[in-house]
Amino acid sequence: MGKWSDWRNWNKHDKKVINSIVGDLKDHPTVLQMREYKQHGKTSTYDHCMAVVRASYKLDRLLHTKCDRKALLRGAMLHDLFLYDWHDSSTHTGMHGYVHADTALKNATNHFGIGKKEQSIIYSHMWPLNISRIPKNREAWVVCLADKYVSIKETIHRR
Ligand SMILES: [Fe+2]
Ligand SMILES: [Fe+2]
Repeated sequence: MGKWSDWRNWNKHDKKVINSIVGDLKDHPTVLQMREYKQHGKTSTYDHCMAVVRASYKLDRLLHTKCDRKALLRGAMLHDLFLYDWHDSSTHTGMHGYVHADTALKNATNHFGIGKKEQSIIYSHMWPLNISRIPKNREAWVVCLADKYVSIKETIHRR
């Protein structure tokens, strides 16, 4: 277990590491489309995914999870690549909370040919809402937790 300061502190080196892993994704036109959609309150889906990348990185560092960092951060960046306005029910079939992981997985696979760990991160990130999709590896657990933390923070800040 790392020190609490590992969570609080944030420096140029950390930004560099993150950029070296997700730099190509965060500037990709398909990923940039997420800027058009709101996630929670005023936060765009793009900013939400970037926040989940940073929180996943910090959790990995704080808890020494020994994650595959490349898969962890790339999966975090793509975990909500569903590319529609979820507030408008005509944009998707079924309840957004239950169906968007599959849409994001399909988009991420089609555009980026992601590996098994990234697929598993996206597939199970909505656990426990999707109760049967228990995260199957440490990378999926970290992103699932980071997503909850960031979502709660964004929802509180909107009020
Ligand atoms: Fe999601
Ligand atoms: Fe999310």
